Amino acid sequence: MDKANFEMVAKTLSGLEEILAGELIALGANDVEIGRRMVSFTGDKELLYKANFHCRTALRILKPIYHFKAKDADMVYQKTKEVAWEHYISLDKTFAVDSVIYSDNFNHSKFVAYRTKDAIVDYFMAKYEKRPSVRVNNPDLYINIHISHNDCTLSVDSSGESLHKRGYRIEQTEAPLNEVLAAGMIMKTGWKGESNFVDPMCGSGTLLIEAAMIALNIAPGIHRKEFAFEKWVDFDRELFDRIYNDESNERKFTFKCFGSDISPTAIQVAGKNIRNAGLMKYIELKELPFQQFTEAPQPGLMVTNPPYGERISSRNLMELYAMIGERLKHAFSGYNVWILSYKDECFDQIGLRPREKVKLMNGQLECEYRCYEMFEGKNKEYKKALNEGGEQKRPPERDTAKPDEKRSVNFKTARIDRPDRRFAAARAKEEEKKPFKKRRDTSND
Ligand SMILES: C[S@@+](CC[C@H](N)C(=O)[O-])C[C@H]1O[C@@H](n2cnc3c(N)ncnc32)[C@H](O)[C@@H]1O
Repeated sequence: MDKANFEMVAKTLSGLEEILAGELIALGANDVEIGRRMVSFTGDKELLYKANFHCRTALRILKPIYHFKAKDADMVYQKTKEVAWEHYISLDKTFAVDSVIYSDNFNHSKFVAYRTKDAIVDYFMAKYEKRPSVRVNNPDLYINIHISHNDCTLSVDSSGESLHKRGYRIEQTEAPLNEVLAAGMIMKTGWKGESNFVDPMCGSGTLLIEAAMIALNIAPGIHRKEFAFEKWVDFDRELFDRIYNDESNERKFTFKCFGSDISPTAIQVAGKNIRNAGLMKYIELKELPFQQFTEAPQPGLMVTNPPYGERISSRNLMELYAMIGERLKHAFSGYNVWILSYKDECFDQIGLRPREKVKLMNGQLECEYRCYEMFEGKNKEYKKALNEGGEQKRPPERDTAKPDEKRSVNFKTARIDRPDRRFAAARAKEEEKKPFKKRRDTSND
């Protein structure tokens, strides 16, 4: 590895590792290796910033700084003192230590974190007779110790608050999807904005917002207040400003995202979040029970996560899924429909054969994400065609691009409706009226 390149680890949710690896490769990562809920890779500082700013399926990006073996917390203490900590934090700053332990030799992960913290403090006291302070909330440096069996890795965490906290969500409904999971679900479908997008049980609007950002290729980090690396000793502000202000990969989205929900509160909350994300122009909302969904916008893709049953009786739940199946058959011809749910009985009620099944964790729940291909025309005719052909022939792929239906949308001017754009508060009023040509203006920092 040349000197400017270093090892990094991107953490993700179970089931999204391959998508994350693809995102990292697209950004120029080398030595990409997939692990359990993580992807390791190498690259330089620019890649570290880009991975934080651009990866939709990363929860955090760690930079390992020291690997060692230890069989107990005292050895961790001794080894931690071998790091030249002044390269990472100065005396007037604050730090916090987090630990992740998969080892029978270390029973108490908190104790390991505690001993690591002691070692850093003692290192500074021995060398400078002064020490940086410990601060649990919003420290200047997040340090992570990971132990698997006897293999220990000390890392600095370049993200800080988890990257699923994009910064656009100001309100939520009862069971909102994690933004990283929502983005991963959409990316699994392969959709990049070449048709309409429908979530008929949209709740707080997470899937709609992530879909519009994917379609426009807007970086997921655009609304974040900060990344931990911005407080690092070696932070290169000019480099990050360049990455932040580079809109060259953004693209037009000529279709729309359509969200509906039976709950008026959900529609209100989704509206607030969408406005806050500056995406009003691309997303239409409607209070509508799915039972009354009569005609899906064509062409389109549906991605949704209906209720799983926590706050609904099991009879009503079965009826809900039976109704979903019935609506799919009648109103979604030509669609690929992706549904995230928890129980087999729910999927059974849909009464359609899935084309694909993927295991995904939604919080602690092991869920399944299934794709149903809704063929155009009558299912009977399709089945007849299958029998005549003697083999599984699919109807021809839809030509989704109907040029005469496409509207050219100037999304740059549309994006002025982002009220909480980063640093917007620091701008003078008259400046706010101008289009956001340069988004990141650090002159007021
Ligand atoms: C699990 S939540 C969706 C959460 C959403 N993905 C988010 O990130 O906030 C399920 C949603 O389905 C809605 N819902 C339940 N029954 C419905 C129906 N018959 N028609 C439309 N929406 C329904 C609920 O109001 C709720 O907002």
